[in-house]
Amino acid sequence: MCIRLTIIALAMIHSPILLRSITAKDNGSIDFSSDIRPIFKQHCAACHGGVKQAAELSFVYAESVGKFLEPGNPDASKLIQRIVDEDEDNRMPPASHGRRLSKEEVETIKRWVLSGARWESHWAYRIPRRSVIKTDLEPELANWCREPMDSLVLAGQREKSSRGR
Ligand code: HEC
Repeated sequence: MCIRLTIIALAMIHSPILLRSITAKDNGSIDFSSDIRPIFKQHCAACHGGVKQAAELSFVYAESVGKFLEPGNPDASKLIQRIVDEDEDNRMPPASHGRRLSKEEVETIKRWVLSGARWESHWAYRIPRRSVIKTDLEPELANWCREPMDSLVLAGQREKSSRGR
């Protein structure tokens, strides 16, 4: 299940079409690793981490955080609601833990959610995979393959269509 999800995620990340639509949307371009992860790490991970997972929320696992996010819709995302909640009893992080997130930090997370909340795994969590580059493709098709993953996808589609014939 987890491996399948990762493969789908990798396929999406490497799809040139999807990549273009994402960069077109978030012209402020938020980078998960440098903009988002440090905020979660500093303000949330002490309680929602790999070991301690308050409310079964862990910022180590994308699937876990995903339950509290509505990609493309920050206001409907529970995670956003909890960091902007004016009620101290609900706001995250709890006041006893530290200061509330700054306006800039909240804005950054909101923009990240708006642009699709893409999660890039730390390299340590990535599944190592061998690059498969098909060299026997017609030039038009070879051009379409910008990433090793593209040629994999293409190979799969061709196999399917040749089986259908
Ligand atoms: C001091 C520990 C602590 C810190 C730090 C902390 N949380 Fe929490 N969080 C909790 C606890 C305990 C709960 C469960 C009780 C509740 O819902 O208030 C919770 C619940 C949540 C929930 C709701 C989960 C649900 O099932 O509804 C979200 C979303 C959340 N936290 C996000 C965050 C975010 C984002 C941060 C960082 C900005 C953060 N938390 C920082 C302890 C913490």
